[in-house]
Amino acid sequence: MFDLEGKRCREMLSAQKIAARVAELGREIARDYRDHGRDLVLVGVMKGSVIFMSDLCRAIELPLTMDLIGIASYGDETKSSGVVQITSDLTRPIDHKHVIVVEDIIDTGLTMHYLLDNLRTRQPRSVKVCSLLHKPDRAVVPVPIDYLGFTIPNEFVVGYGLDFSQRYRDQPFIGVVEGATE
Ligand code: IMP
Ligand code: MG
Repeated sequence: MFDLEGKRCREMLSAQKIAARVAELGREIARDYRDHGRDLVLVGVMKGSVIFMSDLCRAIELPLTMDLIGIASYGDETKSSGVVQITSDLTRPIDHKHVIVVEDIIDTGLTMHYLLDNLRTRQPRSVKVCSLLHKPDRAVVPVPIDYLGFTIPNEFVVGYGLDFSQRYRDQPFIGVVEGATE
């Protein structure tokens, strides 16, 4: 336990451990998409996936493009209700593209379930999911995760893009902060 901005914090995944796993995911994706690299688009889900995507894209040794999609889930800060709204859409069409949706965490799966339904209506050539974290204990709808960083226990985590009330996204590790719970 250590002090983080005045609150007690426990590290779950170190920056080194995250970096090693992101490098592995990058190699795996590069291998799988070797033959259609030019049509590969990483779609990051704002804002949580931005740090992960910026590291991941540099670990994939293929030509690719990136876009971002903004999502708001009706509900409180830490619980998704399953009713999801696109607050900021992609800047480019994804028809005929190979899309990898990049997410920070799949919790209930409701956000990703909605997003996949939505993206599939845009005629991409393929859609896969890359999530840094997965909390299987909380699954409400099954979501296929093609590339997964880490499976974690049912604890609310922050850092490396993940926030509690918009804070801690800038921390280089992933940890549990006392008082930042659902
Ligand atoms: P889902 O729809 O329940 O799968 O929720 C996914 C979204 O909830 C993620 O993209 C996060 O923004 C947020 N979320 C879920 N669990 C956590 C957590 O432990 N820390 C921070 N954000 C979380
Ligand atoms: Mg998110």
